[in-house]
Amino acid sequence: MHDLPTSFGGLPFVREQRIGKWGFGLCVVPVGEGACDAGEGYPSMSANVESRAKPFIKWAGGKNKLVPQLRQKMNGWKGVYHEPFLGGGALFWSIKPSHATLSDSNAHLINAYVTVRDDVDALIAELASYPHEYPFFRQMRATFGKGTPVQRAAGFIYLNKTCFNGLFRVNKSGEFNVPFGKYENPTICDAENLRACSRALHGVYLLQEDFTGVLRRSENSDFVYFDPPYLPLSVTSSFTAYTPNGFSLEDHVRLRDTALILANRGVRVVVSNSAAPAIRDLYAEHFDIDVVLAKRSINADAEGRGAIKEFIITSRSPSEEAP
Ligand SMILES: C[S@@+](CC[C@H](N)C(=O)[O-])C[C@H]1O[C@@H](n2cnc3c(N)ncnc32)[C@H](O)[C@@H]1O
Repeated sequence: MHDLPTSFGGLPFVREQRIGKWGFGLCVVPVGEGACDAGEGYPSMSANVESRAKPFIKWAGGKNKLVPQLRQKMNGWKGVYHEPFLGGGALFWSIKPSHATLSDSNAHLINAYVTVRDDVDALIAELASYPHEYPFFRQMRATFGKGTPVQRAAGFIYLNKTCFNGLFRVNKSGEFNVPFGKYENPTICDAENLRACSRALHGVYLLQEDFTGVLRRSENSDFVYFDPPYLPLSVTSSFTAYTPNGFSLEDHVRLRDTALILANRGVRVVVSNSAAPAIRDLYAEHFDIDVVLAKRSINADAEGRGAIKEFIITSRSPSEEAP
């Protein structure tokens, strides 16, 4: 069991500054009451010009298909939106909350989001010059993660649009190793969408960190959506090794503990995961579990593209949990 912080010392929020290797660091800024706009029946949503923004990358495990069910779980929520396993951010882009913290452990991904938010014109200028050609793809793969933040972000988006199934995979040396995809004419630079995304990300805090970082800044009435790499369906609670996606059963236990601390604080928590028996065992006592049928959107195995059972796990309010 890990030692998890239960409070943030009275400091209400954290935001990033551009410092260090990946251009991020932490500083504290306050967020006041009623910080979110109203709209669409969800109290904290913005309904403005950036409403056309849609995910600017595709992502394995993306939750586009699950968005309607996830949104149902948000009824009545009023606080700040947190998404600590951001990936392509399907739920975030569907609601575009004006006050949000988005984070992920993948530094390349977060650099791309920060660049879209802060430097979208330079990003578009760079990306628009990239051709859909195999020799250029190989060059981008060889230089992956190198150069200025704008060049790194452009390379990341280019590879996402042109590699096999939009997968993200690096070897132990950090080299991108997904093969060239079979696309006729992929949209590599959707300038209009990137600009809409940039506007939607204005004022959104972006952080590269482990998911437990959310404990430092979420408070009563906030909403946290956890979408971790799923536990394989066959894994039981006696399993101890690392799973192929690098997120072990121990990480899932850490996640459940984090979700429980937040729920006890009055934060609305939603977790999606596979319908593995071990996941039911972890959450059954303190959370409500719905079984939903979901279609996978990125899957190399054509047979794996059918609907499969998944869990949507929701926190109970502290009063429901009281003995
Ligand atoms: C299933 S994907 C999220 C997909 C996203 N909801 C979407 O709609 O595209 C899981 C994400 O968790 C991130 N991740 C893996 N381990 C993590 C950790 N310990 N802390 C934070 N993020 C992590 C991965 O980089 C990946 O982007």
